[in-house]
Formats: sequence, C-alpha cells, structure tokens
Amino acid sequence: MTDLRRILVIVSSTRTERFADHLLAWVTSRLTERGDLEVEVLDVRDVDLPLYDRPRPPAVARREYMNDAERSIGARLDAADGYLVITNEYNHGYSAGLKNLLDHFFAELEHKPVAFLGYGNVGGSRAIEQLRQVVAELSMVSVRETVHILGYQFPSVRAGGDAAREVFASLEPRLTVMVDHLLWWADALRAAREA
Ligand SMILES: Cc1cc2nc3c(=O)[nH]c(=O)nc-3n(C[C@H](O)[C@H](O)[C@H](O)COP(=O)(O)O)c2cc1C
Repeated sequence: MTDLRRILVIVSSTRTERFADHLLAWVTSRLTERGDLEVEVLDVRDVDLPLYDRPRPPAVARREYMNDAERSIGARLDAADGYLVITNEYNHGYSAGLKNLLDHFFAELEHKPVAFLGYGNVGGSRAIEQLRQVVAELSMVSVRETVHILGYQFPSVRAGGDAAREVFASLEPRLTVMVDHLLWWADALRAAREA
C-alpha cells in the first residue's frame, strides 16, 4: 500500500443548524476507523471568500492568490489526494457557497478524484449530477459510486441513538465501496501527477 492518502471532506451546507452535521460526524468517524487514509474537514460555512471577483480565471492565474483566505484554502486543497463532498440540495441544485469555493481554484483540484454523499428528498441526486458537470470542467474525476440519505430517513438520523445507527448501518457498505473507489483513483492520479 502507498502511504496514507489525505482525504478532505468538504461540507457544503452553510446553515447554522444543519442536517449536514449528523452526516459529517458519521462520515469522519468511519473514515478515521479505516486506517488507510487521513481525514481533514473543509467547512464551506467557515470559508471566508468574497463572491468570486478575481480579474483572471484560476485556470490561467494558477495559484495566484489575492488574499489570505484564498492562500490558506488553496494550501488545504493542494495537500489533499482526494475529496469527499457532503452535499445538500436546494431548489434542485447544489449550494451556492460550494460553487463560489470551487470557482476560486483550479490547479489545486486538477487531476484529483472527488466522491459525493448527498442528502435530500431524492438523496441529493440532482445536486450530485450537477456537481459532476462542474468538477469535470476542473479536470477532476468524479467517482461513480455515491451515498444517499433520503428524506424519509432524516427523522431517524435526527432522533439519534438506535434509530440513527440503523440508518447509518444500512449505508455503511455503500460508503465503504465509494471510499475504496475514491482511494483507487487517489493512488492512480497521484502516481500519474508525479510521473
Ligand atoms: C431553500 C431550500 C430549498 C430546498 N430545496 C430542496 C430540494 O430542491 N430538494 C431536496 O431534496 N430538498 C430541498 N430542501 C430541503 C433540504 O434537503 C433540507 O432542508 C436539508 O436539511 C438541508 O440540508 P442542511 O440542513 O444540511 O442545510 C430545501 C431546503 C431549503 C432551505
């Protein structure tokens, strides 16, 4: 096995009391238990970027940072071998905060894999399919396998205890497969970037 892969979990909801936090706790604990990767979290709610206002696109002005927030987030994106995005769905789309984050960077994300965990009435599927188009333009690889938490499962997750454990237990095989594929791509693309 190669050395530990660095996976950055990106949380896209910016709400104060958000469902995302239940999923973040579950995902980070499962990823940490695996022992074959390092987990870090980038929370879009804490991202201090202006609405995109740079004079030149990041694909051209590569790693030319305009402020400390860009520099520090850029370094965290750069350090990751792959990303796992926890995406909400608003009005059949993904979060505006996540789009603003992605628009600020290019070289940091290029030729890296990204996997999606979605939640909503149809498991965030519409947001995920839109995100696949966006990440393709950033020269990223989106992992085929996804994890979905459906609207009817929200009350059990919110209730916590056995009810939440049951929902998460049903999703764990799927999460494992998705992360296995994410790591496969992380290794393959890291080798390719280094070559
Ligand atoms: C403005 C708004 C629009 C929403 N639109 C959708 C939607 O299109 N599809 C969906 O499945 N859920 C939709 N929802 C419900 C969200 O899935 C639900 O509120 C979820 O908890 C949001 O995630 P968060 O709490 O982590 O922010 C919407 C919620 C809000 C606040």
